[in-house]
Amino acid sequence: MKELKIFSPATVANVSCGFDVLGFCLDTIGDEMVIKKTNKKGIHITKIEGYDLPFEPQNNVAGVSALALIEDAKPNFGFEIEIYKNIKPGSGIGSSSASAVGSVFAINELLGKPYNKTQLTNFAMKGEALASQCEHADNIAPAIFGGFTLVKSTNPLEILQLPTPKDLFAVIIHPQIEIKTSESRAILPKEISLKNAITQWSNVGSLVHALHKNDYELLSKSLTDVVIEPYRSQLIPYFNSVRAEALNTGALGCGISGSGPSIFSLCHGNETAQNIAQAIKNVYSKTNIPFEIYISKINTQGIKIL
Ligand code: HSE
Repeated sequence: MKELKIFSPATVANVSCGFDVLGFCLDTIGDEMVIKKTNKKGIHITKIEGYDLPFEPQNNVAGVSALALIEDAKPNFGFEIEIYKNIKPGSGIGSSSASAVGSVFAINELLGKPYNKTQLTNFAMKGEALASQCEHADNIAPAIFGGFTLVKSTNPLEILQLPTPKDLFAVIIHPQIEIKTSESRAILPKEISLKNAITQWSNVGSLVHALHKNDYELLSKSLTDVVIEPYRSQLIPYFNSVRAEALNTGALGCGISGSGPSIFSLCHGNETAQNIAQAIKNVYSKTNIPFEIYISKINTQGIKIL
């Protein structure tokens, strides 16, 4: 195999209570990339469509993760990367992760799969760090493994795959404003109260239990964030109205997707998802902020070859 085309999915990190550890994978939005083997050693980004991003591999998220991989694999040939970006950078649905994951997944395939998914996550984290100034894996892991994932530890890296309830849908609204992950991390407190910590870890535990038990009611009770959301929600216009409408229309929970500005809702079944999409569309239609809405089943496969 000399070249391949892949679909690298968008993801939702944190899932309310699990800051930096929980995430899930979407299936209706993602980037496409074409990776080709070339005689010229190194990584060469030859095309970027969709958004204005750097071509120098050391300044590009996909390039940095690819460089980390080839530094380890040391192939005696190189790779050309074409990036067709659909996920807007700074959207909160894992734009940088999709790029970081895409290059390492495709190169691994072209090398005959020497690395497992956890090793690929490690390489992709180097690219993610370029965008957010911090090596976190809660978008990368669901993009690579699919479904829901929990980052048990980053050093050493340990990813747990969690079960996905069959009829679980996500509705995402992406207000077209940019919030940089580095900035929305900078506003967070360095310490939290014991009271809030207890609430938060109780919710993470019950959310994991709910996924294992297919228990939508418990899932709903677990989708609460008392640690991060109070700070970040102030950066997102109409966040409280969107959440109120989503919950009124049957959402199991509604919170900030990653570092925002996207807002995610989870719900049981496609019909409820359509109703939630309409309800939150009504909220943003009354504002002058452009927005996109996505409805997606949870993608249990993750990144794939097209
Ligand atoms: N866990 C990260 C954060 C995800 O919330 O900062 C960034 O998309």
